[in-house]
Amino acid sequence: MTPQANPISFQTVDIALEDRSYGIHIGAGLLNASDSFRDLPAAHSAMIVTNDTVAPLYADRLQRSLESRFRQIHMVCLPDGESHKTWESLNLIFDALLARGCDRKTVLFALGGGVVGDMTGFAAASYMRGVPFVQVPTTLLAQVDSSVGGKTAINHPLGKNMIGAFYQPQMVLCDLETLNTLPPRELSAGLAEVIKYGPIADMGFFDWIEANMGSLMAREPAALAHAVQRSCEIKAWVVGQDEREAGLRAILNFGHTFGHAIEAGMGYGAWLHGEAVGCGMVMAARLSQLLGGVDAAFVQRLTRLVQAAGLPTVAPVLDTHDNLGRYLALMRVDKKSEAGEIKFVVIDRLGSAVVRSAPDALVAQVIAESVRT
Ligand code: NAD
Ligand code: GLY
Repeated sequence: MTPQANPISFQTVDIALEDRSYGIHIGAGLLNASDSFRDLPAAHSAMIVTNDTVAPLYADRLQRSLESRFRQIHMVCLPDGESHKTWESLNLIFDALLARGCDRKTVLFALGGGVVGDMTGFAAASYMRGVPFVQVPTTLLAQVDSSVGGKTAINHPLGKNMIGAFYQPQMVLCDLETLNTLPPRELSAGLAEVIKYGPIADMGFFDWIEANMGSLMAREPAALAHAVQRSCEIKAWVVGQDEREAGLRAILNFGHTFGHAIEAGMGYGAWLHGEAVGCGMVMAARLSQLLGGVDAAFVQRLTRLVQAAGLPTVAPVLDTHDNLGRYLALMRVDKKSEAGEIKFVVIDRLGSAVVRSAPDALVAQVIAESVRT
C-alpha cells in the first residue's frame, strides 16, 4: 500500500506535560499516511525498532510513510517476547544505532507492542543521553497504556521493569487497523488494561465496557476506537498530574502488585502481562472488599467482566511448598514497596483508588482464595 497524501480522519488526545507535551493520534490507517508524521522535528535519519513478528506485517508501511521526511531509514529487528525484554535486546538497539552512525537527532520509532515500546523508549532515553522517539503501538495493550506516559524499562531476572527511565515520546500514533492481526489472546490481554480504568477512575466507562464487551471481542472498529480513546484520555489525565509517580499515577497499577508477582513467578512470558493484570485486578478487588472499599457484588461484577474478556481469574500456585511466601517475596520486589512493605492499589470507593499497605492476614486470605476458586 502506498502512503496516502490526504490526511486520514483521526482523533487526538493531548497529554499536557509543559515542554514534554504531545499528542496521541488515534485512527484507522494512520500508518499509511505520511501526513501522520508532519509534526516531528526535522532529522536526517530514523531508526525503526521492531520485532520479528511485527516487521513482516507493518515495517514496510511505516518505512514508506517516513520516506518523505528522512533521508536514511534504518531498522533493527529484535527477538519477540517478554522473555527478551532484556539487556541483550537493548544492546542490539545500541549496536544498530552506533553501527549506522546515528546521531543525536536520529528519531527512533517503536513499532510493536509494549515490549518493543518500553525497550525503544529506554534506548532513546540513554542513547547519546537522549534522542527523540515516537511510539507506534500495534497491540491493544500498548495503544491503551504502555505507549502513553513515558515509562520505559527492561526486566531484571529478580523483578519486572526494574531498570528504566521516565522519558516521553514526541508523539504516539495508534493505527487501529493493526489490531486486526492481533492474536485473540493478545486482544484479551489488552482488554485487561482497558477494564482497569473503570474502577480506578470512571465507572461510567466500566458500565460501557460491560455493555460492549461482545463488540470489543469482535473487534468492531467503533468499539475499539472508543475504548482506545477513553483509556488514553484517562491515562493522559493521570499522567498530566503526576508524570513521575510521586503519588496519583500509582493508581494505574491496579491489579499489578499481584500481577507482577504472577508474571515473575511463572517466568516472564508464561502468562501475558495483561493476563496477570486481569487476574491481579480480581485479587485486588477482593482485597479492596476485605478493606471495606467495595462490596461483594462489585467483586463478582469485575470477575465476570475479566472472564468475558477471555482472561484468567484463578491465580496460579507459584510454589507448592510455600505459595504465600513466594507471592510475598515477589511482591516485595515491586516499585511501590517502601522499606520492604508491600503496597497495593485498592478501590476505596467505586471510580476511585488509593495506594496502601494491607494486613498480612488479609493478603494471605486473598491469595489462598484466589488459587482455589
Ligand atoms: P508484546 O509487546 O509482547 O506484544 C504481544 C505480542 O503481539 C508479541 O508477540 C508481538 O510481537 C505481537 N504483536 C504486536 N503487534 C501485533 C499485531 N498488530 N499483530 C500481530 N501480532 C502483534 O506485549 P504487550 O501486551 O503489547 O505489552 C506488554 C508489555 O508492556 C509488558 O512488558 C509490560 O510490562 C509493558 N507495559 C508497559 C507499560 C508502560 O507504562 N510503559 C504499561 C503497561 C504495560
Ligand atoms: N502502566 C502504569 C503507568 O503508566 O503508570
